[in-house]
Amino acid sequence: MKFSVEKYKSINSENINKMVLAFYMRILGEDNDVSKIFVSKLGDDINSELWQEHIGILTNFWAMITLDDTAYTGNPLATHLSLPLKKEMFGLWISMFYETIDSLYIDRLGSVFKNRADIIAGNFMRNMRL
Ligand code: HEM
Repeated sequence: MKFSVEKYKSINSENINKMVLAFYMRILGEDNDVSKIFVSKLGDDINSELWQEHIGILTNFWAMITLDDTAYTGNPLATHLSLPLKKEMFGLWISMFYETIDSLYIDRLGSVFKNRADIIAGNFMRNMRL
């Protein structure tokens, strides 16, 4: 018999926080170009102050997108313009993000995150001429 884990059927800030944490645990578990960028900026200890701050910022960011939450006040494009990003890294980022989302949210809700991530990644690449 096949058992499946119950997926989230609604989006709230608590499960967004779990999703963000799962995504970065996934990234830190890899040794690829995307994980190298994160390790170089934030280190490899997800419990560090820097990482906890980043996870809080990203939780607010996704809560802004999916719940109209107003806590996020940053400028994602400016942040990424100062990172040494390449086109291939976006493909990698997207595939790891999709995997995380698909493992946690039912399809209809997962699409909200994935569609928006696609659009933002496209905007970043266009602005970086990648
Ligand atoms: C090649 C792919 C990507 C890499 C390697 C990457 C890497 C990073 C790193 C290292 C930071 C932290 C910078 C710092 O605090 O100094 C960051 C911040 C952030 N990233 Fe990405 N990122 C990527 C793509 C994306 C995408 C596609 C999104 C959105 C869908 C995104 C959303 C954000 C946000 C919201 C922040 C916080 C910006 C702020 O401080 O307000 N990133 N990213």
